[in-house]
Amino acid sequence: MLFVNNFLILYKNVMKFESELIESLVNSKRVSVLTGAGISAESGIQTFRDPDGLWAKFNPAELASMDGFMSNPKLVWEWYQYRRSVINNSKPNPGHYAIAEMQEIFDEFSLITQNVDRLHHKAGSQNVIELHGNIIENFCVECKAPFESSDDVNDDEVPICKSCGGLVRPAVVWFGESLPEPQMTQAYKAASNSEVFFSIGTSAEVYPAAQLPLIASDSGAVVIEVNTKHTAISGRVDFCLIGKSGEILPNLLKIIKNIKAEKI
Ligand code: OAD
Repeated sequence: MLFVNNFLILYKNVMKFESELIESLVNSKRVSVLTGAGISAESGIQTFRDPDGLWAKFNPAELASMDGFMSNPKLVWEWYQYRRSVINNSKPNPGHYAIAEMQEIFDEFSLITQNVDRLHHKAGSQNVIELHGNIIENFCVECKAPFESSDDVNDDEVPICKSCGGLVRPAVVWFGESLPEPQMTQAYKAASNSEVFFSIGTSAEVYPAAQLPLIASDSGAVVIEVNTKHTAISGRVDFCLIGKSGEILPNLLKIIKNIKAEKI
């Protein structure tokens, strides 16, 4: 395991371990990326477990569970409306754009995210595997019908399902709920089939998502972590790039593109 601080800018000056990292990326056809809240931090969206993160101020049991919603639907709805307003006013950052470009560079590329903000989509990523749902859509807690009309949504009142009169909730996965099966299957497949697997901006503390880099590693992938600090899985990865994903990823991409262009 190698920790790389101030990740290189100029690949001509790379040190041996950095060139090993780049070599494995240049030669890989199957690359997967797992992202967490840290990728969107530079877009102004708060993470969860950092000292200034959401779970330092808010109680996940109250705001991100079915029990919490049923005890106080209005409070939960208002909190999600607040988060939506932040997300709707945010833009992808260079980290999101670098990941979107990766889909053009590698023959087989999978992007798995725990984020609900849809910033990867806004940056141009396709086929994003969303493990924790999304904060844009809503559905009925009773009949599960999607709640379509954004006109009928306001900040202070929980909408009511037009089909059955049930309460409407955001389409995010809450604590205690299962992750969507098709997305999990795709994610496991990508992790076990990758030559290189990135774990970016995630504390790697929430399972089953946190298992994916470990599955990739056990299946023989080179695992690269990008984070502002060490995490629960830093000791298990091959390369640990310490810094902001919005700075590290564009630099890394530039280097890979230059080397690939030289090879043509
Ligand atoms: P966390 O808040 O647990 O972790 C965010 C990670 O991003 C931390 O390890 C930070 O060090 C890192 N970080 C912060 N800024 C960064 C930057 N600019 N560049 C790179 N890394 C940075 O968020 P997640 O791991 O995504 O689930 O949390 C997983 C799940 O827990 C979330 O999807 C959410 C939460 O409860 C649900 O709501 C179901």
